[in-house]
Amino acid sequence: MPDEKFYVTTPIYYVNDKPHIGHAYTTILADVLSRYHRLKGVPTYFLTGTDEHGQKVQQAAEKSGIEPLEQADRTVVRFRELWTKLEITNDDFIRTTEERHKTIVQQALQDLYDRGEIYKDKYDGWYCVGCERYFTEKDLVEGNCPEPGCGRPVERIEETNYFFRMSKYQDWLIQYIHDNPGFIQPDFRRNETLGFLKKKLNDLCVSRPKSRLSWGIELPFDENFVTYVWFDALVNYISAVGYLTDENVFEKWWPASCHLIGKDILTTHTVYWPTMLHAMGLPQPQCVFAHGWWLVGRDKMSKSVGNVVNPMDMADRFGVDPFRYFLMAEMSLGQDASFTEEAFVRRYNADLANDLGNMLSRVVKLIVSHCDAKIPEYTELGAEEENLRNAALAAAEQAMDNVESMRIDLGLAALAGVVREANRYLEKRQPWTLAKEGKIEELGTVLYFAAETLRIISGMIYPVMPSKMSELRAALGLSEKEPGFADLTEWGKLQPGTPVQKVKGLFPRISSRENKKTPVPGKQNEGKEPPAEGVTYAEYADFKRLELRTARILQAEKVEGADKLLRLDIEVGDEKRQIVAGIAQHYDPEGLQGKTIVIVANLKPVKIRGLKSNGMLLAASIGKTLRLVTIDAEDAPSGAEVS
Ligand code: MSP
Repeated sequence: MPDEKFYVTTPIYYVNDKPHIGHAYTTILADVLSRYHRLKGVPTYFLTGTDEHGQKVQQAAEKSGIEPLEQADRTVVRFRELWTKLEITNDDFIRTTEERHKTIVQQALQDLYDRGEIYKDKYDGWYCVGCERYFTEKDLVEGNCPEPGCGRPVERIEETNYFFRMSKYQDWLIQYIHDNPGFIQPDFRRNETLGFLKKKLNDLCVSRPKSRLSWGIELPFDENFVTYVWFDALVNYISAVGYLTDENVFEKWWPASCHLIGKDILTTHTVYWPTMLHAMGLPQPQCVFAHGWWLVGRDKMSKSVGNVVNPMDMADRFGVDPFRYFLMAEMSLGQDASFTEEAFVRRYNADLANDLGNMLSRVVKLIVSHCDAKIPEYTELGAEEENLRNAALAAAEQAMDNVESMRIDLGLAALAGVVREANRYLEKRQPWTLAKEGKIEELGTVLYFAAETLRIISGMIYPVMPSKMSELRAALGLSEKEPGFADLTEWGKLQPGTPVQKVKGLFPRISSRENKKTPVPGKQNEGKEPPAEGVTYAEYADFKRLELRTARILQAEKVEGADKLLRLDIEVGDEKRQIVAGIAQHYDPEGLQGKTIVIVANLKPVKIRGLKSNGMLLAASIGKTLRLVTIDAEDAPSGAEVS
């Protein structure tokens, strides 16, 4: 995509029903791309809106016993509210019932009609009411509608209509697609369109007799007809940016840089629209990008099945930014993706709560406790520091490349990888131990490197999670509202001496309810052997009396007056507990937060130094030190049975 400007569009959504996760996805994607380009300093225009004419809307209105415009007025509010909630930064919202759009559609039709590009003819063929499309006998699949996902019975009709001479542009279009490989993306969608163009293209019926459908834009040259809803809808991409009304604005934005669409509306955008534009004498959009579908688990989302995911509910329950993050991280380049709450919770806990949120709170806490709450100075670099710096800068580059090539999921994966690497760096460099040993310079370097990595990562993730990343950046003392992108590929922009602020739970962990019971081993005591000398075997039943579970350490602190004891607040599934453990000489309290350990959960509670200890953690004695038993899984839930 060239950089002089960026004009991105979403499909305009039908107002027959309230928005679902598919609508939210495309609009968030457009928002992420827009924010990204704005931060790069590229003039950006982001258009979305609603498609308000046609049979679907008329039928929905009839069902509710209201006029179609009232149906549109009521539903459009739902879309607008959702976009506000999801922090969508569209520059315009176009409704096809607005005068500014209707007049342009009529002018375009009149011009094409005057130049003989639209003609009147008798039509004798098949019609699918659901898809509002005409088909020839040959088009039908087993006598039914051939549209993917439709397959409904069709009606035989004979009527007079107006046709756009689309067929005459077939060869031109095939050549155009071959000459401009970036025009239809991803590549396999380009091949799909080329496959479609192997069959002879028909002319496009662009009218509907009012006797059958009255809810549409009247043809300027025949009052007995309204405009076919797709001809009307596609024109929104130019009517919103000054076509035939403001030459300067139109020159500035058209052609669009990217039309984002779902895979089901590929033909309308890569066959109808390009031929319409060509006949109007207008240049083609630079790219039509078709994404896949959100499935619910493995199923298609459908009202009749009752599995439609409401994006408003998701944002209310889990937060706007995590919802945006999940949608962007989970769907890859043109493929279908599966939405489940389990997958959401898993990704949230792994990437956001355990890794990013935990890293921030660790780093800020240490800076507050040991560096006078100011970004520390850093001194010489060791190999580990250099590795972290290189990894952070490389991930920022990778994220930018991936966004440019519409692989947002890979960009986010690269950034999540650096957060994991930074957490490993902290584990290795043990700043809490450096603090205890009074190695203040080295501690400063480690914390500077961790904080600087967070600055770069948060800047790169900002277009996806603007509010949360602003909070994170404010915690690091970064005062500007939005990150400057040029600063994100350079190391060392965080100024030592800048005050930091503690943040409270940027991404609080979501406790997962589905801690499936791990199957217990079978009859391994059958055919018992006598114990070897000096060994006392336990019966399996003895072991089963103990309830071992994973637990997450929420916070740890020293027990006053006891140099061996730490008091830990832990989470075991949905339950919060306190335990007291003799590990103070082996672990710094700050380093423990977020660790998933193993505890004996059904040990009788006891009081230690006046504090209730409800459970016992497991640790291995290695020489003179104790090391905690942890779990070999990045996103292990707490409360899981250990057997
Ligand atoms: N009004 C037309 C578009 C006209 S654009 C000039 C339309 N509207 S729609 O409301 O039915 O669909 C809008 C978009 O939502 C389409 O791109 C469609 O692919 C997308 N989705 C509908 N269900 C979807 C999923 N389950 N998942 C992802 N997107 C899906 O078509």
